[in-house]
Amino acid sequence: MLALGAVSVTNLQAEEQVLNLYSARHYQTDEALYEGFTKHTGIKIKRIEGKEDELLERIRNEGAYSPADVLLTVDAARLSAAHELGLFAPVTSALLEKRIPANLRTSDWFSFSTRARVIIYAKGVVKADDVQTYDDLANPRLQGKICSRSGSHPYNLSLMASIIAHQGEARAEQWAKGVVANFARTPKGGDTDQIRAVAAGECAVAVANTYYLARLMRSDKPEDRQAIDKIGIVWPDQQSYGAHINVSGGGVLKHAPHKDAALKFLEYLASDQAQRYFADGNNEWPVVAGIKIDNPALTALGKFKADQLPVASLAMYRAKAQIIFDQVGYR
Ligand SMILES: [Fe+2]
Repeated sequence: MLALGAVSVTNLQAEEQVLNLYSARHYQTDEALYEGFTKHTGIKIKRIEGKEDELLERIRNEGAYSPADVLLTVDAARLSAAHELGLFAPVTSALLEKRIPANLRTSDWFSFSTRARVIIYAKGVVKADDVQTYDDLANPRLQGKICSRSGSHPYNLSLMASIIAHQGEARAEQWAKGVVANFARTPKGGDTDQIRAVAAGECAVAVANTYYLARLMRSDKPEDRQAIDKIGIVWPDQQSYGAHINVSGGGVLKHAPHKDAALKFLEYLASDQAQRYFADGNNEWPVVAGIKIDNPALTALGKFKADQLPVASLAMYRAKAQIIFDQVGYR
């Protein structure tokens, strides 16, 4: 009897060593990230992958019965949407507060890596001096030169939200109008498509997230590196508020069955080891200061001044950003 009892207790404990992770990050290198956690804690990760907005919807529909412990996704506005839907549980962690800068965390979700949205231009066609700020993108001298992904994409909505936060709605609307007037073509494709279009001479200026640039810089394909050679990269607004950054991040879910494991996982993501995975594997910057990274592309991109706007304020202006983009035809 005694022995039997001991076995069932052990089984129970074994069962508890699981974390259900809902992730909208689809990067291969994340495998190593999850393995590192299991090695470190003995907690197995069961991963449900999905598209960003589908995961939010799924957690919402599952309600109190949701098995989800942690949601990991990209884009500050989307993380804030999860917050507004009441999906996250408040988290108190001295470790997370100490390691993650205040502007990159909230009461219930935390950023674990950052990416900058930079300006790229065709060398020999446009001068770097003419594209030093996001404002420059609205200057009539760039007429017919800009290509862009859809204005409805979260990356562009978050950029627009930061412009509203810094300059107010009226000026942001003027800006969006100016950018639309400068389009070389109707928005289409992803960030990498814009980079390729600039390199191919289909347009001369675009914005792109840094990890897409780093991916091409580190590519084995000669055509990818040739594309990079044709373009110049500008850190925008270095004389004022700094380059717009966005984040990937996550939080513990309100109905998480394994709250302790979930908190451990968030704390692990802020560890030196995990922070290095974000940088070396997926070409994002660590949020924790002083992490030694080994990524030739990030080193080549160099240092820059990042916008210090709190991540939560990007969410505050996201709906407004969409309304203005709709009004000015940034689709
Ligand atoms: Fe992306």
